[in-house]
Amino acid sequence: MRRLKILMLAAEAAPLVKVGGLGDVAGALPVALRKLGMDVRVMLPDNGMRVPAAYKVRRLAGGTLAWGGRAERVTVRAMKLNGGLYYLVGGRPIPHDGKVYGADMAGDLRKFVFFALAALRAAERLQFQPDVLHVHDAHPSAALYFLGTAGRQQRFWKFTAGVLTIHNLAYQFNGAAAALEAGGLAQCDDTRIPVYARTGLLALGIAAADCVNTVSPTYAREIRRKEQGAGLQNLLRARRPEVCGILNGLDGGVWNPATDQAIAAKFDVRRLARRRVNRDALRAELQLPAAGGPLFALVARLDWQKGLDLVLAVAPGLRALGAQLVVLGSGSPQIAKQLRQLARAHPRSVVVRVGFDEALARRIYAGADVVLVPSRYEPCGLTQLIGMRYGAIPLVRATGGLADTVVNVAVDPVRGTGFMFNYFSEPRAWRALQVRAMQADFSWELPGRAYADLYAQAVRTRRTGAAR
Ligand code: ADP
Ligand code: GLC
Repeated sequence: MRRLKILMLAAEAAPLVKVGGLGDVAGALPVALRKLGMDVRVMLPDNGMRVPAAYKVRRLAGGTLAWGGRAERVTVRAMKLNGGLYYLVGGRPIPHDGKVYGADMAGDLRKFVFFALAALRAAERLQFQPDVLHVHDAHPSAALYFLGTAGRQQRFWKFTAGVLTIHNLAYQFNGAAAALEAGGLAQCDDTRIPVYARTGLLALGIAAADCVNTVSPTYAREIRRKEQGAGLQNLLRARRPEVCGILNGLDGGVWNPATDQAIAAKFDVRRLARRRVNRDALRAELQLPAAGGPLFALVARLDWQKGLDLVLAVAPGLRALGAQLVVLGSGSPQIAKQLRQLARAHPRSVVVRVGFDEALARRIYAGADVVLVPSRYEPCGLTQLIGMRYGAIPLVRATGGLADTVVNVAVDPVRGTGFMFNYFSEPRAWRALQVRAMQADFSWELPGRAYADLYAQAVRTRRTGAAR
């Protein structure tokens, strides 16, 4: 069989670029697909980042792209990594500021639409004609929209199938009219899309892709409903073939406590006792005193999604339980401030580290007893998977991929792999729970009857003279 050619576009791909789980997935999936014999090439926006010399970067000709009425130069830096080819695709609309996502939305829209179209241009120049164009999330979605419109008439792109993976429905990148126009893309009048989202990158990608998936079966179901559909539920429901859920994997080469260079003592299931060395080392590093209770950990982007308010609410009670908590995260300055206040108020039981620190994250997974994932919603979630791999038991909210990856030990003591809580984010399950709760019979009727029985028994007993 002919070797399938895949062109992947993403804003992140580890080890080159990682902000969150998208980086892990776009880093690991190509490796898995290459093992299946596919020729997978990955393209990322070139924000001028420094690339390790070991990657042996080469500059290639990228041609030009018609952009805002002029011919804009496309730059390409190529390298071999993980047994495959990676390309950093750049140009003037992509600032050389080293930032993956900027603070200014209009700038990001321009940058990502330019990247999407420039990547297609670069593929043409490289004569890499893919069977499948696989786009991750909203950022490079304009490429799918191109395939579904002008691309249909172009010989090079006519037979390329478009696949979109939704990693997070919340980041839709709406309001891209100016950038789409600069790229010469047609206006969209698809009535399945709410009017405001017809210039939105994610919605256009969902509408134009040949196939759409997301990163867990439960999330695939959740986003079809109004509560979690973020305005796109009708479009998602109308899609054929149906939006499916493919659970993320975890790269066992990247995440392995038996080979992890960042941790104090390497271990595996046969040498589990060595985990204690990692916990002691972690406590020492974080300047936490010894304690008899569990060490909880949370590693996450500091974002509303991640449900950190729940942690803020329960953390003050940890000390009384002999438990401790470490939080590592970066993102919202406001959440960071609240967490810092929490740590100041409870120095013996709570430690907060603000920033992105891959090595510390690894030491946390290796040393913590429990990984908390209280997310309000979670398309898949990787920290619970990494936690499990490192013997840190996950405690998760029953939502999205968390519900698909953790087997609740409270329900299934034999197969259980973690703990699960809350039906609150699952409106239907929550309502059913409310109905059951409301119908639970605590009226006096039953105890009244029981007393009646008891009285009858007492009367009988008295009459037969059996009472002592
Ligand atoms: P999301 O993609 O929504 O951020 P995931 O659970 O899918 O959530 O993936 C998060 C990934 O990012 C994990 O690999 C986690 O270890 C990593 N990560 C998140 N925050 C940090 C941080 N502050 N420092 C180091 N790694 C982090
Ligand atoms: C997103 C989601 C997360 C998922 C990751 C990788 O960032 O928030 O749940 O694990 O993408 O698919």
